[in-house]
Amino acid sequence: MDSSSGLTGSRRRFLRYLALSPALASPVLMGGSLRKALSLDFDDPPPERSSSSSESIASAEQALDVMEFEALARKRLPPAHFAYLATGVDDDATVRLNHEAYQHIEIRSRRLIDVVKLDSSVELFGTRWETPIFLCPVSSMKVFDPEGEVAVARAAAKQHHLQILSTVASSSIEEVTAARGAPVWQQLYPTNDWAVTRALIKRAEAAGSPVLVFTVDHQENANNETIARGRRVDTRDCSLCHAGGFAGYVRRKPMFKGLDISKVTELYDPSFTWDFVKRLKDTTTMKLLLKGIVTREDAEIAVEHGVDGIVVSNHGGRAEDTLRPTIECLPEVVAAVKGKIPVLVDGGVRRGTDVFKALALGATAVGVGRPQAWGLAGFGQSGVEAVLVILRRELEKIMRQAGTPSIANITRASVAL
Ligand SMILES: Cc1cc2nc3c(=O)[nH]c(=O)nc-3n(C[C@H](O)[C@H](O)[C@H](O)COP(=O)(O)O)c2cc1C
Repeated sequence: MDSSSGLTGSRRRFLRYLALSPALASPVLMGGSLRKALSLDFDDPPPERSSSSSESIASAEQALDVMEFEALARKRLPPAHFAYLATGVDDDATVRLNHEAYQHIEIRSRRLIDVVKLDSSVELFGTRWETPIFLCPVSSMKVFDPEGEVAVARAAAKQHHLQILSTVASSSIEEVTAARGAPVWQQLYPTNDWAVTRALIKRAEAAGSPVLVFTVDHQENANNETIARGRRVDTRDCSLCHAGGFAGYVRRKPMFKGLDISKVTELYDPSFTWDFVKRLKDTTTMKLLLKGIVTREDAEIAVEHGVDGIVVSNHGGRAEDTLRPTIECLPEVVAAVKGKIPVLVDGGVRRGTDVFKALALGATAVGVGRPQAWGLAGFGQSGVEAVLVILRRELEKIMRQAGTPSIANITRASVAL
C-alpha cells in the first residue's frame, strides 16, 4: 500500500461524509449550488456531470468525452425514459459513489519506456478482444433509440467490442447475433419457473452464445425513486407500451416469445441458493459467469462451485444503495479467486483512466452500462461507436503516458490508493 493511502483514505471518508450528511443535505443549511455539486438535488435525476458544451454537438464525432452524451440523452429522451436510465435506489448515492471512487485512485506513471507499439488487447475464454472495454447488458434499449440493441450490436461489431445481451432486451438474441455478425454473450435473469429458464438457456446456446452471465444482484421491486419522479413529470400516455403489469412486460420481451410464461412472477427467485448455480452448470455447456459478486466470501464460494468467471458489479447502483463502489470491492474479489478465473468489473466507468485503474486493481475486462445508452439516445449506432472510440482512445493515451505498452504491464504498482 502506498504511503499516501492514509491521506487519500481520509479525503475519501470526508467527501463521503459530506455527500451523505443529512445535516448538510438540508436545504436550509445547504445552498443550491453546493447541493447540486454534491448531486443531492433530487428534483431531477442529477447528471453525472453537467455539460453546456454538449449543446453544440451536431454529430457523435464531435463529443469530447462520454459525459457529453449524458447531457444530450437528458434533452432528447422523455423524462420517464431518462429517469429509467439514470435511476439508482433510495438516494442514488451508490450510483454517484461508483464513479466518484475512481477520483480517489491515483495513477503512478513510469518514464522512459518504449510505448510506440501499444497492445490493449485481452483474452477471455480463448477469444482475443482488441480492448478490455465491454458493453454491459442493458434492458429495453429501444426506449433510447428505435433500433435498440441491434444498433448497439452494429457498433460493437464495427469497433470490435464484446457485447452482453440482457434477457429483457427489446431485441432477440438471433437479431442481435445477426447484426453483430458473431455470437454475443447472454445475460440471464432466470425467473422463478425452471422450464422457462431452461428454454432461455437453450435458446442462447442455439444462437451460439459462448458465455452465460447469471445476474445475482437484482431482486424485484427495488426502491427506484428517481424513476417514480421521472414518471410524475412525464405527461405522455404510456399505457400502450406499459399495459399488463409484470406479465405484460415479460410477454413483450422477445426472448420470452413462444414460451408459457403463465407461472413467471419474478425475474429472480428470492429462494435461489448456490445449488441453483450447480443446476445451471449441469444444464449448459456455455461458460458460466456470476454478475453481481462484491465480497471475497462469495468469490470463494463461486470458485468452489466451478463458476468460470465473476463480474464485480452492483447493477450500476440500481438494486440496492450499499454505498460500496465496485472499484472498492474489486481487490478483495481478485485476491479471493487467486487468478483461477477472470474477474470483470463494471459501475461508474466514464473515462479511459477509470478502465486503466480497474485493470491495475486486477480486472480482466471493464464494462460500461449507461454510457452506451447515452450514446444510443444521442445518435443511435454512431453514438455508441463514439462512446467506445472515446473510451478506447483515452485508455490508450493513459497507457502511453503511464509507460504501460500492454495490458499485462498495468499492475497494482500502476496506481496508488
Ligand atoms: C437502464 C439499465 C438497464 C440495465 N439492465 C440490466 C439487465 O437487464 N441485466 C443486468 O444484468 N444488468 C443490467 N443493468 C446493469 C448493467 O449491466 C451494469 O451492471 C451497470 O449499468 C454498470 O454501471 P454503469 O451504468 O454505471 O456503467 C442495467 C443498467 C441500466 C443503466
